Amino acid sequence: MAEETTSIIIMGATGDLTQKRLLPELFNLRRKGRLPEGTNIVGYARSEYSDDAFRERTWQSAQASEELNVEQREWEDFARSIYYVRGSVDSLEHLAGLERRLIELEGTKRLANRLFYLSIAPNLYLAAVKNLGSSGLAQEKRGWCRAVVEKPFGRDLTSAKELNQVVRQVFEEHQVFRIDHYLGKETVQNLLVFRFANAVFEPLWNRDHVDNVQITVAERIPVGDRGAYYDGTGVMRDMVQNHLLQLLTIVAMDAPSAADAESLRDKKVEVLKSIRRWSASEFVKNAVRGQYVGYLDERGVAPDSMTDTYAAMRLYVDNPRWSGVPFYLRSGKSMASKISEITVQFKESPYMKTSIDPHQDTRSNVLSLCIQPDEGMHLRMEAKVPDQGMMMQPVDMEFHYATAFKDHAIPEAYERLLQDALEGDARLFIRNDHIEEAWRVVDPLLKAWEDPSAAQLHTYDTGTWGPEAGDALLAEYGHRWLQLCGGDH
Ligand code: BG6
Repeated sequence: MAEETTSIIIMGATGDLTQKRLLPELFNLRRKGRLPEGTNIVGYARSEYSDDAFRERTWQSAQASEELNVEQREWEDFARSIYYVRGSVDSLEHLAGLERRLIELEGTKRLANRLFYLSIAPNLYLAAVKNLGSSGLAQEKRGWCRAVVEKPFGRDLTSAKELNQVVRQVFEEHQVFRIDHYLGKETVQNLLVFRFANAVFEPLWNRDHVDNVQITVAERIPVGDRGAYYDGTGVMRDMVQNHLLQLLTIVAMDAPSAADAESLRDKKVEVLKSIRRWSASEFVKNAVRGQYVGYLDERGVAPDSMTDTYAAMRLYVDNPRWSGVPFYLRSGKSMASKISEITVQFKESPYMKTSIDPHQDTRSNVLSLCIQPDEGMHLRMEAKVPDQGMMMQPVDMEFHYATAFKDHAIPEAYERLLQDALEGDARLFIRNDHIEEAWRVVDPLLKAWEDPSAAQLHTYDTGTWGPEAGDALLAEYGHRWLQLCGGDH
């Protein structure tokens, strides 16, 4: 008989994230034999369900999933470890009921671990964390107790600090796992391997050789049925403050001094601290906001909404490695293609003109790291066209996960993150100071944009690369957005 049991308590169990991501990924982990033995999953939400009715609901969602390929019998076998407790995070009485159910499920096991996953509306986080504290559920009694907190973590620096403070009163930092699902993406983790396991790139990874860095996270989908959440949130809060700044920190950071979570997270925070703090008016000049035509007709969106569905900006990392190198970031909904790509454009080679052919223009080398959908990388170089004198043409050296690792399917980000949280590995989670520094970077722009007259809100057509002003932002410095990776059209 195993001496240990683990309960994963999902607060917000009837929501989309639980049904479409968390349960399927927990199923995948179990299928791979990576869930701790004796794991129970306890759904907690306000609707009324019996255990069986909830299990049936999870099966309906699993069937609807395009990614999951599962037979009913296999799901039912998994679902036997799923339970349901009706309750609200606001109510200490309900939470006491949850505790009783947990104790019942844990039985006489010597060690009973608990992972609370907050998959609830962000405006309930404060109450949920406080009540996990007041109810005693957050205490480590017979095993470890951890909390996974979904984004958005606050909606500006002030609210993020307030939430961090409450979290600190209830949990020790090592118990808290703040999620940014981009960190769970295989290709984002590969950035670390790519940068630090290949000796060829690191010597070039600095202001002497890099001309500019571009990070694009574009989506083809509009806000759809998420209008009520999205309006008043906007792409800066929904994508830039978290996902894009995560990518930036991993691209720009120095090598961690050790392989532990704190060393890695220290280096990322150092990057955020080095990002130039624009004043509101400087930031407005270095950024573009846009809204797709038709956004105002989306359900849940105010008819006069000024919410940004597109943002582009120029940032500088003012440290010895990156001083003077522009980092361009852009993200948007309803764009031409779904693509996440990091492009490093190197400086032009000085030798071609002086040593080989003074009449030809050289194009600089470009390295693109393709985060999704066609995971891999491209390195653009000049090559001599055969039999055409010294004529050159750019060619790509490419690597694609789909062909290079045919036998290894890329797991979903949540699968990896859930596994790490269960194992207590915090490397791919966000520390409290990172959250605050990231808000510190974007806050001046968010504040400036609250004033409708502070900056123009450019409109753009669905299926385009955003407003022309986004291209002009780069053209000011002789740059243009580059795309080498394949998108999803
Ligand atoms: C989420 C945002 O964090 O990331 C969504 O809230 C967005 O608006 C999603 O669609 C994009 O994630 P991915 O993994 O599809 O790039």
